[in-house]
Amino acid sequence: MGTTLITERDGALALLTLNRPDKLNALNAELLAELDAAFEALSRDATVACAILTGAGDKAFAAGADIAAMVEMTTEQARAFSETGHRVCSRIERAPFPVIGALNGFALGGGCEIALACDFLYASEKAKLGQPEVNLGIIPGFGGTQRLARRVGIGRARELCYTGDVIGADEALRIGLVNAVVPHGELTAKVKDVATKIASKGRLAIAQCKRVVFSGEDVPLDVANALETQAFAMLFGTDDRREGMKAFLEKRKADFKGR
Ligand code: COA
Repeated sequence: MGTTLITERDGALALLTLNRPDKLNALNAELLAELDAAFEALSRDATVACAILTGAGDKAFAAGADIAAMVEMTTEQARAFSETGHRVCSRIERAPFPVIGALNGFALGGGCEIALACDFLYASEKAKLGQPEVNLGIIPGFGGTQRLARRVGIGRARELCYTGDVIGADEALRIGLVNAVVPHGELTAKVKDVATKIASKGRLAIAQCKRVVFSGEDVPLDVANALETQAFAMLFGTDDRREGMKAFLEKRKADFKGR
């Protein structure tokens, strides 16, 4: 593996750090390939219960797709670059464990789009978010025109994509783009607390919950509800479900095994 992505494990947690701090973690082909491979591998690893995605250094989660790498791209190369970005976002979105984005600074352009593929986001008070692609004569290419609207509503998404405005963490919280804003130095600890809480639950239940929420988003409500019923019933066949209910009745903490 290269060096543009650091992947660490802390028990059931996976911590991934975008690692091009000199370039504010701008997303080039190498970093996207490493993200793709990392999520592919983690998604096959049943010991992962939750992942955290953040950026190296003190300034950025990721300040966008790498403009230096894009400057000479042909239309065909741009198409392939966009498809790679989409594949990475899709892997994050479909990973069988929650992925929490810890936005430690700029999350712009492709950086904001990778963040939007995460299940939910916590931001440092220093974070700045936006889709400034129109300033470069392009549009978001890793799903920003679609996922931003799904997260914050179509009016606000249009406004951000058309103006290229960069907003601060408090405004991002106000419009529902991030779930919480925390002091810069407390971001990692706060996100780890939430990830650890999630990891203490039945992993199979969390995976099904993520799958059903995601799969149900763009289908009619009755179809989405049928997906929920199917997953709900399926979980009754698991040891975790038996353990969870038994532990409640025995007034003790459940010991989930992910089976
Ligand atoms: N692509 C490539 N390189 C980038 C980059 C990007 N998206 N964003 C930052 N960098 C590089 C800078 O070129 C600079 O490299 P250098 O030191 O070799 O010159 C380095 O990262 C530090 O960035 P700098 O601009 O000096 O930091 P700053 O604090 O003055 O400004 C930003 C920070 C985020 C406001 C500014 O870097 C910026 O506007 N970046 C582009 C944002 C963008 O348009 N993203 C969408 C791309 S589709």
